[in-house]
Amino acid sequence: MKIMTVIGARPQFIKAAAVSRAIRQHNESCAPSSRLHEVIVHTGQHYDRNMSAVFFEEMEIQKPDYSLDIHDSSHGAMTGRMLAKIEEVLLLEKPDKVLVYGDTNTTLAGALAAAKLHIPVAHVEAGLRSFNRKMPEEINRVMADHLASVLFSPTDAAVANLAAEGISQGKPGVTVVRTGDVMLDAALYYSRKSRERASLFAPKSLWRKKIEDALDKKGFVLATVHRAENTDDPARLEAIFTALGQIASDMPVALPLHPRTRKMLEANKAAGQGSRQNLWILEPVGYFDMLELLKNCRLVLTDSGGLQKEAFFFKKPCITLRDETEWVELVENKANVLAGACAKTILEAVKTMLERKVDFDIPLYGSGQAGLAITKALSS
Ligand code: UD1
Ligand code: UDP
Repeated sequence: MKIMTVIGARPQFIKAAAVSRAIRQHNESCAPSSRLHEVIVHTGQHYDRNMSAVFFEEMEIQKPDYSLDIHDSSHGAMTGRMLAKIEEVLLLEKPDKVLVYGDTNTTLAGALAAAKLHIPVAHVEAGLRSFNRKMPEEINRVMADHLASVLFSPTDAAVANLAAEGISQGKPGVTVVRTGDVMLDAALYYSRKSRERASLFAPKSLWRKKIEDALDKKGFVLATVHRAENTDDPARLEAIFTALGQIASDMPVALPLHPRTRKMLEANKAAGQGSRQNLWILEPVGYFDMLELLKNCRLVLTDSGGLQKEAFFFKKPCITLRDETEWVELVENKANVLAGACAKTILEAVKTMLERKVDFDIPLYGSGQAGLAITKALSS
């Protein structure tokens, strides 16, 4: 069976790495007639070396069969160009199924191009909802779920969200599988080798010295910011950077900065002016570095979807710089608190979360076997 994987943004490389590895495992152990042949299409949505190539190298993802090189345009233009190009590849390759991940413009373009050609769509991370239609991600994920015929949901809450929209197991032509989260598969597998491979922690790295110094004192905070709702709203961006500056006056904050945020900070003088002392602004880092930062930090502040869960995997409390989250079970279990983009609320949340006792042992996201569950369902 031929599976065409359509990916293009950083979190998709990480998720696809876990599934591709499971596909390789499956192929080694099954009869030749049950093997899955994976064709990878990279739309090019993310393209800087440290937003794309680094993940293919570190995570040993097979080189894309097609690189479409589409990026840096408005939502409609980007999605439209992807749609046209992906359609060309689909007509050429004629896959049996198309596999898409998450909620980016790449996800929507891949799902729509395939569905229009009557090729079954399988969606990994199906059923996540913020119920905020102002987020481009919400529109992409709702559309992808309604175009998909195979829905791989990480959590019970996601399965329930799908059911509320009339998508459930038993509906003709629809398969819903609660798989657990592929990001847990990735975190478990790659964290075994991250220490030797993380460049920030290499013996001669200047960062290693800074991190070790911080660990000898109060430790450090890990932060990421990239959501359009934060970067493109000057008041929110300024409030977040004011809070990060104040946190850094007490404990260093490591901030691998998404290129979108870097550009918006350069354009938005007010947000860029806060205290930068002990705010370690880094280029986006590779996955091994990220895993080591996660393992060693005390607290995570983020508006990323993936990082909220990774904080939980590595038993770190998380403050989410958004007004809502799709990963509701983290908030319900007190591992995560929503602080929006208000400096005062963020600073109070830091105090609360540094003191809070959290049960990180509840298996909210499965057991790290999501890739195998996905592969099994794809091959049946
Ligand atoms: C996209 C996804 C978002 C996801 C995020 C993961 C959509 C609508 N958004 O947001 O859901 O959480 O990826 O990181 O699909 N840029 C570079 N180099 C790169 C990539 C981006 O400079 O390698 C800059 C460009 O100026 C680009 C901007 O970042 O225009 C935004 O990139 P884009 O892919 O449109 O959206 P993200 O904010 O990355
Ligand atoms: N990540 C990374 N380097 C960075 C920032 C993030 O490897 O500099 C990883 C992070 O650990 C997680 C994924 O990228 O696995 C999350 O991607 P992102 O925050 O860009 O997107 P989201 O999850 O919000 O869609």
